[in-house]
Amino acid sequence: MYRIKQFLWAIFAKLTDEDKKFIDFYLNDNEKVLFNKLKESEKVHSVKVAREVLQKSLEKDLYDISLVKAALLHDIGKIDSGLNVINKSVITILNKISPGILKKLYRIKPVYSYYNHPEIAITYLDNCDDYIKFLIKNHHNYEIDDKKLKILQEVDCKH
Ligand SMILES: [Fe+2]
Ligand SMILES: [Fe+2]
Repeated sequence: MYRIKQFLWAIFAKLTDEDKKFIDFYLNDNEKVLFNKLKESEKVHSVKVAREVLQKSLEKDLYDISLVKAALLHDIGKIDSGLNVINKSVITILNKISPGILKKLYRIKPVYSYYNHPEIAITYLDNCDDYIKFLIKNHHNYEIDDKKLKILQEVDCKH
C-alpha cells in the first residue's frame, strides 16, 4: 500500500511556490541549474527531504547550510539516468525481493544509476565545497559515523 501511495504521489507531485522560495534561498545559480534538471517528482522529494533535514538539524543544534544544500542536491546523480517513476518502482521492488537478479542487470543504465547516483552526482559538483560532496557521495553509505550525514540518511529513507 505504501509503495502504491508513493508511486501515485510521484506522478502527481508538483513544487509549490513556497518550495521554490526555499530553493531560491538555499541554492546559488549554478546549483539551481543542476537542481532544475531533476524530474519534477525528484525535485519534490528533494525539497521534502531538505525541509525535514533543516528542521531536525535545528532541533539537534547541528544546523549547517552545507547540509541543507546537500539535502536539496543529494539525488542529482539521477539526472539523465533514464530512471523514471515506473522503472524506479520496479528496481526498488526487485532490490527488495532479489538483489541478485538486479545485480545481473547492472549494465542497464537505470539500474547502474540506481546504484551509483551518489558517485555520479560528484561529477556534476565541481564548484561545491568538500563537505557537500562528502554528504552527497555517502548518502547511501550507512557505515559512516557523521551526525549530519545520519540526519540526511534518516530523512531520505523515510521519503
Ligand atoms: Fe539517493
Ligand atoms: Fe533521495
